[in-house]
Amino acid sequence: MFDLLVKGGTLPDGTISDIGIKGGRISAVGRLDAAAVKVIDATGDLVSPPFVDPHFHMDAVLSYGLPRINASGTLLAGIGLWGELRETATVDEMVDRALRYCDWAVSMGLLAIRTHVDTTPDHLRGVEAMLEVKRRVAPYLDLQLVAFPQDGLYRTPTGRQNVVRALDMGVDVVGGIPHFERTMEEGAESLRDLARMAAERGLMWDVHCDETDDPMSRHVETMAREVTRHGLGGRAAGSHLTSMHSMDNYYVSKLLPLIAESGMTAIPNPLINITLQGRHDSYPKRRGLTRVKEMQAMGITVGWGQDCVLDPWYSLGTADMLDVAFMGLHVAQMTHPAEMARCFTMVTECNAAIMGLQNYGLNVGDQASLVVLDASNPIEALRLRPDRLAVVSKGRVVAERHRNDCRLDLASRPQSVRRRL
Ligand code: FE2
Repeated sequence: MFDLLVKGGTLPDGTISDIGIKGGRISAVGRLDAAAVKVIDATGDLVSPPFVDPHFHMDAVLSYGLPRINASGTLLAGIGLWGELRETATVDEMVDRALRYCDWAVSMGLLAIRTHVDTTPDHLRGVEAMLEVKRRVAPYLDLQLVAFPQDGLYRTPTGRQNVVRALDMGVDVVGGIPHFERTMEEGAESLRDLARMAAERGLMWDVHCDETDDPMSRHVETMAREVTRHGLGGRAAGSHLTSMHSMDNYYVSKLLPLIAESGMTAIPNPLINITLQGRHDSYPKRRGLTRVKEMQAMGITVGWGQDCVLDPWYSLGTADMLDVAFMGLHVAQMTHPAEMARCFTMVTECNAAIMGLQNYGLNVGDQASLVVLDASNPIEALRLRPDRLAVVSKGRVVAERHRNDCRLDLASRPQSVRRRL
C-alpha cells in the first residue's frame, strides 16, 4: 500500500513508468498494481524531478518599485536602489515577500533554491529574515543561504566581519563579489580570503564572479586557482561569469581547462545577463551570457539560475525555471534537440548537483519530490512552459492544477485546441 501512486507518467528519459511513494521516499518504480491512499493519473504527462534554482536573491524579491523603479535598468543603478531599500525594509516585510514568492515557486514545481543574502548592513536584518523563511518553508522547500557581501568584502569597513557573523548565525554557503572590490588586486585577495574561509569551515562557496562586460575582469582564473588549491571541486560555483563573453578567444582557450581542472561549477543567469549586460554598448550590442556550450564541452557542470524576480534589477519573473531555460536556450543558441534536452537537465539535475542536493531524482530511495507537467517530453515542456498539473514535495501533494484546455468557436470549425503535439 503506497501513500501516493503516480500512474503512467513519462519520465525525462522517455520511459513510461509508475512511481510509488511511501514515507516520503520513492519506494518503487515500474509497472505497479498496488493500492495507494491517493493516485495521480499522469498518463501521457511528463513526470520530472523538481526544478531547482541555484542562484536567487530572496531578500529583494517582489520589491519592484521600492523605493522607485530602476529607470536606467543597469546593474549599478539596481545596487544603488537596493542599498536604499535594505535600510528601510523590516524583517517582517522581507519574510512576507519571500513567503509569497515561495508559494509561487512551489506552484511551479520549484522545490530547491539557493539564495544570496546581502550581509552588507550591520543590522543583518536580511539574514535574520531569510533564516526565518528557511525554517518556515523547510517542510516543503529546500532553501540554501549564501553570505553575500553585496558592497564588497573589503569595500565597506565591516564587510568581512559581517560575512563571518552571517555564517556564525547559520548561513550555509560562503559568497563573494570580487569585481566589485576597489581594485583587481583586492578582488583577487577577497577570493583567496573567502576560499580559505569556505575550506576551513567545510562549506560550499558561490561567488558572483566577473559579472561585468569588462574583458579584463579575470577573477574567474583566480577563483579556479583557489578552488584547486583547497580541493573544493564541485562545492564551488562561479555565478554569472559574464566577462567571459567578451574575453579574448585565445585567453579563454587557456582559462577553460583551468576551470575544468578545478572541478568548480558555473551558474549563468540568462534572464538577467541578457537584460543587464551590454548596457554601455551601442551596436553591435553584446549579449553578455557566458560561454555555456564551450564550458559544457570541457566537462564543466553548468546550470541555469534565475537570479531575480520583481526587484531593483529585474521588472519581470514568474518563478518558472522553464522560462529561465527557454531564455538560456535562445541566447546560447542551444537549438539542437540534444542541446534543448540538456537545457531541461540544467534546471533539474545539473542545478541539484551544483547545490549538492542529496537523494534527488526519481529512483527508488530518492526523496519523493516530483512535478507532473502538461507536456509529453522535456523539449515540449520548454516550448510550452506548460501547467504544472501536480507538485509533490517530500511525499506530499503540495499543488494541483486542472489541465488547460482552450475551446475555439470558429464559424465552420468548432473545436478544442491543445498546444501539445
Ligand atoms: Fe545574483
